[in-house]
Amino acid sequence: MSPKIALLDSLADIEQSALIRISTTIKTKDLEALRISLLGRKEGKLSQILKQLASVEPSERKIVGAEANRVKNALIAALETAQTNLAYTEEDRPGSLDVTLPERGRWQGSEHPINLVIKEVWKIFQTMGFTRARGPEIESEWYNFEALNTPLDHPAADEQDTLYLKNSGLLRSHTSPVQIRTLEANSPPIRVLAPGMVYRRDTYDATHTPSFHQIEGLVVDEGITFVDLKATLEEFSKRFWGSGTKVRFRPSFFPFTEPSAEVDVKRIVMREGQEIETDWIEVMGAGMVDPNVLENVGYDPERYTGFAFGMGPGRMALLKYGVTDLRMFFQNDVRFLSQFSHKSVR
Ligand code: PHE
Repeated sequence: MSPKIALLDSLADIEQSALIRISTTIKTKDLEALRISLLGRKEGKLSQILKQLASVEPSERKIVGAEANRVKNALIAALETAQTNLAYTEEDRPGSLDVTLPERGRWQGSEHPINLVIKEVWKIFQTMGFTRARGPEIESEWYNFEALNTPLDHPAADEQDTLYLKNSGLLRSHTSPVQIRTLEANSPPIRVLAPGMVYRRDTYDATHTPSFHQIEGLVVDEGITFVDLKATLEEFSKRFWGSGTKVRFRPSFFPFTEPSAEVDVKRIVMREGQEIETDWIEVMGAGMVDPNVLENVGYDPERYTGFAFGMGPGRMALLKYGVTDLRMFFQNDVRFLSQFSHKSVR
């Protein structure tokens, strides 16, 4: 075999085996060792070939030299490609990485807006010394109506409004029965907040749902007056709705409070970059605990007085977050629900 043919054969062998080894190397440092063994000035396989060029007929050296150059460039290109691919995989994760795959979104849960409101209301009353109270959702007529000074022929007790259970009992139509249960199980001073679900035979539309949340408050002690009611609810309203909020107490009627009031707020909100005052919005029912209620649970109304209030965190969430349809809170569409977080409260 002529030296020319022998060298061209060696070059072909080197190229073939080198390309395989380059493409199967998975560590950057192995790739570098491979590069030196192939292209290194002294020991590199290609350099060894070129050293033998002297043995080739002068007229044929050009052919062998050109082929050696082509192989060298092919190996350099293959080493570079392998190097960039390795840089990716080694940085990100072992094995292969398909960088063309779409990113997998991270699932992040968020708190329900009504729960956010309940939490915020609770935090405010907690700083005023209130504790949590709770009662059952299935109630008797006594706790839901009669003990609350509401005779059963009162329209609220009508089947049109209240969901009665088959044999006995009903689904509480407000959280006020928790007042009675709290008074029974404790003695003054009483200062409780009771959030919970209530049920009514209501339509399901933008402003009504047949089950909804209420937050009840009750304070009973010696010497509690309407001034305490006003001060507490005004302080709460400013802390919940913003310090610039105006609060108004409007005479109203509830069977279990006397006198009774509806609490309205006038808020300051941002509209198109401008601070504006809203109209008066009704946000709460309240009043001094009716002496008949205290008597129903064995309290002496000459000695003890108190006030109670009830609010709807669903409606409050509508107002606070500018949502226009109450049903959004119950459809559990994550695109809607994920917009609320503690940070966005207010
Ligand atoms: N229970 C009343 C309602 O559901 C609200 C209320 C609670 C009013 C406490 C006064 C005192 O409408």
